Amino acid sequence: MKRQLTYYPDPVLARRAEEIGEITPELRALADDMAETMYANEGIGLAAPQVGEGVRLVVIDISGPQIRDDLRVLVNPVITARSQETVESEEGCLSVRNYRASVERAAQVTVQARGLDGQDMTIEADDLLAICLQHEIDHLDGTLFIDHISRLKRSLYDKKVRKWAKQKEKALSA
Ligand code: NI
Repeated sequence: MKRQLTYYPDPVLARRAEEIGEITPELRALADDMAETMYANEGIGLAAPQVGEGVRLVVIDISGPQIRDDLRVLVNPVITARSQETVESEEGCLSVRNYRASVERAAQVTVQARGLDGQDMTIEADDLLAICLQHEIDHLDGTLFIDHISRLKRSLYDKKVRKWAKQKEKALSA
């Protein structure tokens, strides 16, 4: 089932998500829903807080949004190593409307996580996968890519967000 996305400044996006204990049928259903929601919105990654669930679950498919044959579901993912070398690239986020900005990230990361089968896995990532993993794991700690941009750019974006909220209010009351 496709879920409703949460949008900045929804507080669920700013909270630290909870560690997952047991892998239950409900958790599997949530992972299915998240993959469906990610694909429906043409994303390449989605974290549980983006569908309003404060748990440490991430789905990623960097073959998307076209090919969609490389789905990874990560339970409690942790970055255990990051390269000194960094890369800068333009990022966007399904929960941050109408905005993209350049963000600096580690060029390579090592991530440990559990799969839905309960098995531990280690991912050595570079390029787009490394960026995507850092972006999604940030979500689990209540951090958005706009938390990595300059204060000036951020305040300009926040101003726009407040304007859109006001316009919406007006439209609803009209
Ligand atoms: Ni995002």
